[in-house]
Amino acid sequence: KKVVLAYSGGLDTSVILKWLRQTYDCEVVTFTADLGQGEEIEPARAKAEMLGVKEIFIEDLREEFVRDFVFPMFRANALYEGVYLLGTSIARPLISKRQIEIARAVGADAVAHGATGKGNDQVRFELSYYALNPDIKVIAPWREWDLNSRTKLIRFAEEHQIPIPRDKRGEAPFSVDANLLHISAEGKALEDPWEEAGEYVYSRTVAPEDAPDKPRYVEIDFEKGDPVAVDGERLSPAALLTRLNELGGANGIGRLDLVENRFVGMKSRGIYETPGGTVLIAAHRGIESITLDRGAMHLKDELMPRYAELIYFGFWFSPEREMLQALIDKSQENVTGTVRLKLYKGSVSVVGRKSPQSLYSLDHVTFEEDTVYDQRDAAGFIKLNALRLRLLNRQRG
Ligand code: ARG
Ligand code: SIN
Repeated sequence: KKVVLAYSGGLDTSVILKWLRQTYDCEVVTFTADLGQGEEIEPARAKAEMLGVKEIFIEDLREEFVRDFVFPMFRANALYEGVYLLGTSIARPLISKRQIEIARAVGADAVAHGATGKGNDQVRFELSYYALNPDIKVIAPWREWDLNSRTKLIRFAEEHQIPIPRDKRGEAPFSVDANLLHISAEGKALEDPWEEAGEYVYSRTVAPEDAPDKPRYVEIDFEKGDPVAVDGERLSPAALLTRLNELGGANGIGRLDLVENRFVGMKSRGIYETPGGTVLIAAHRGIESITLDRGAMHLKDELMPRYAELIYFGFWFSPEREMLQALIDKSQENVTGTVRLKLYKGSVSVVGRKSPQSLYSLDHVTFEEDTVYDQRDAAGFIKLNALRLRLLNRQRG
């Protein structure tokens, strides 16, 4: 009996580790991923060793995360409910995929995660697990155990020689999930949606009012829909997103306070910081604005909410997500060029765009005299488009 646990090294997953052993009399293999959460992951190794774990997997997945998950999603300009950039949603499939691969490698028959029974994350982890291994056993301790209060959790930790960081003795003010794309905070101190979140909730962005009084201009190069360089410097996917996080964060960009609809049915309030992602989605729309045909653009915009919902609901590994991805990727063939943006006190604006594949035709659009467009053609164009409206009016008034 072996279980691969998604292990952060924190108190909760350490308790889960011991609880799994005790409850299932199994060997626990830990998997800790660096997705750019901004915390060292090596301490997780020491902690796992100390808790007697024999097989410990520690992996830096930042490049794979940005290249194979974040960038494909950004090709779609995906936003859930109009605003959420899906920072947590897009990380779960990758963690799940590695857990399943590790389970196969070490001969484990089960996987476990530390998401609660109330949220989206349990669904995302488990849909991904089952999609990649239909026979895997899934253990979700939060849905099973009775350690449903902080006091009980702490007592269990004490009884099992799990070190409790001093700042974890008390109730954490809210629940945090972080990776290179975003940091989220929800629950507890944030549960009243009428109450504005205090400045202490934010960690990746300065308040817009405290951002520099001078605008910061930045140029982003795209190739086939993906960003490849910032201010002329070519960067790997993870390095590029890191750079945009710094620039966006320093200018107060990417804060979001939202009440969203969870897949399980309830509404929840979250505070998100997605500085680099917010710059990137604006830039991507900027380059698409001159390189995408209108029909292509409007079709992908119509499908975008569906695509975003699929990711939010946890269906990354599904035929319908792959079908939409193929369509979106196809649309990006000519999405190449450069966007110039202005970052200023919490706002990001596209102020310039150019592309060797540009569909923008000054010859056609100019207010000056032209030789390519006959304005008289527009009369028939409008008349035929108006035909049904006129017939309707004649009949119905
Ligand atoms: N509500 C967001 C989502 O569903 C963020 C979830 C944060 N997860 C967490 N374990 N704190 O994508
Ligand atoms: C959780 O319940 O584990 C976090 C919140 C969520 O998954 O939506």
